[in-house]
Amino acid sequence: MNRDEEKLLQAATKALPLAYAPYSNYKVAAAILTNEGKIFTGVNVENASYSLTICAERAALFSAVSAGYRSFSHLVVISEGNGFMPYPCGACRQVLMEFSPDLKIIVAGETGNIMRTSLAELLPYSFKQA
Ligand code: THU
Repeated sequence: MNRDEEKLLQAATKALPLAYAPYSNYKVAAAILTNEGKIFTGVNVENASYSLTICAERAALFSAVSAGYRSFSHLVVISEGNGFMPYPCGACRQVLMEFSPDLKIIVAGETGNIMRTSLAELLPYSFKQA
């Protein structure tokens, strides 16, 4: 991992306990790096009305966009609770694509295994402005 990726992983690890996941008991944290070098984090926030839950990836992205940032180079996602690899869900892939078609994505599992991929690989033929 390079220095940027280490910093993103550290930021996500720090945010992970803040996840609000009393229904699934699956905590997720994401850290996104802007092209200007700033890091924003997000966690999943669940709700008693399950479908209103927001994923960590969208929480991180929306936080960054709300602060005025619109282009991103890397996203790190980590999780804890059931052993799943926290690949961004389909909805998050589409929302990430709106801002960062060239996003690099690093998904770290609970056991320490790391997958490197990209948004282009996870969402080919995406619906976006030409
Ligand atoms: N979740 C995320 O936050 N990101 C993902 O990539 C997959 C799923 C959350 C949503 C919900 O709170 C919990 O994980 C179980 O689906």
